[in-house]
Amino acid sequence: MTESRTPLAGRFVLLGVTGSIAAYKAAELVRLLTTAGADVQVLMTPTAAHFIGPLTMETLSRRRVMLDPLELLPDHRIGHIVAADAADAILVAPATARWLGAMANGLADDIVTATCLASPAPVVVAPAMDGDMYAHPATRHNIERLRGYGYAIVEPEIGPLASGQTGVGRLADPARLLAAVEAAVAGKPVRAPDPAARPPAIDRAVPQDLAGWHIVVTAGGTAEPIDPVRYIGNRSSGRMGVAVAEAALARGARVTLIHGQTSVPLPDAAQLISTPTAAEMRTAVLAALSDADADALIMAAAVADFRPKQSAPKKLARAAGLTLELEPTEDILAEAVAVARTQARPPVMVGFAAETGSLDRVAEKAARKGVDLLVANDVSEPGSGFGTDTNRVTLIVPGSPPEAWPQMSKSQVAHRLLDRVLAVRTDAASR
Ligand code: CTP
Repeated sequence: MTESRTPLAGRFVLLGVTGSIAAYKAAELVRLLTTAGADVQVLMTPTAAHFIGPLTMETLSRRRVMLDPLELLPDHRIGHIVAADAADAILVAPATARWLGAMANGLADDIVTATCLASPAPVVVAPAMDGDMYAHPATRHNIERLRGYGYAIVEPEIGPLASGQTGVGRLADPARLLAAVEAAVAGKPVRAPDPAARPPAIDRAVPQDLAGWHIVVTAGGTAEPIDPVRYIGNRSSGRMGVAVAEAALARGARVTLIHGQTSVPLPDAAQLISTPTAAEMRTAVLAALSDADADALIMAAAVADFRPKQSAPKKLARAAGLTLELEPTEDILAEAVAVARTQARPPVMVGFAAETGSLDRVAEKAARKGVDLLVANDVSEPGSGFGTDTNRVTLIVPGSPPEAWPQMSKSQVAHRLLDRVLAVRTDAASR
């Protein structure tokens, strides 16, 4: 063991913030804990979030603040249970009189109490409140009960209080709180060193490895009109395509986002082109490629395969009944690949294939479409496909065995896909 490691190095520490004016000091606590080497997850009660913005805590801790015991992580695990299981220590600072009462009685209706109840980790509690509240027998009694659970109490200090009075009730000095957390973990092994066992951290600075690139992305589903009010559509939410656009923007690319119907916010930083139908999407994609400056086309849109041969100019009456004659839409990706092949520096072409039940057809589909990469998924699987935040995909690189990726958030899939797009481009340039 190297003695230079601080007692908190590599530890996962939960900071529970409850609704006292001293909540503003929690920002300094995050800084102290992280400087001491801890990986910090902040939990805040709704009242604490009135005193200090979760965004402040999120920026300092590089983790999404947990505010609600019902909240799920992007991969659908229950947030506070994952945090409770992985924690090496929990610091509740400031702890209000209400919170002491809730915790003493095991009333798990806020995220901090729920997490403490669910965790075997040592708990350090730093009360902060008005002096009379602190002296009240109810508060004293609750504190004694917490001591009885083995919780370490760091008593508040004497000084001026928010009420204008002077008394015991000021949150203990942050350095004392840090020392109490260090003492709580002393000699204990790190409980969950694997980052995957902890709630996900927000990515550190994203590399600007796509700076100077132009990436064309399609997203969402097209809607093929039957009459002015009805259409043939599909269940695509646009999440995957939007995740790719956002990831590309974050990595410095210029993005043209050609979109059909979507149910997620679109990134303002992209050039947005709305194309309700497959025909309009085709025109926009071919126009975007015509400048020959695109580095990649990522066709994540769920393009309707059929459209009504004729769209009625007026709303059709129900009484008449309806038989639709459908015609296939143009295969936009196949046309785009054909255009790209005529260019001196063809963009990397990426297709998506949403299948149901098996991925047997996807290798053939990748070859037929002539793409460099095909991202296939089985949308009938839970945690994959339409409307979910996660995806389990298989990457097809023509000529290589399929690569099954583990279930990840759509943002993670997007970044990993862009890594591969970058590799194809770099490879082509070095040939
Ligand atoms: N695609 C397209 N134009 C269409 C249909 C699909 O450009 N008219 C694109 C999709 O955006 C996707 C890829 O082609 O990137 C594969 O879509 P998919 O519907 O799975 O393929 P199809 O060609 O429709 O094949 P099949 O009907 O056999 O499933």
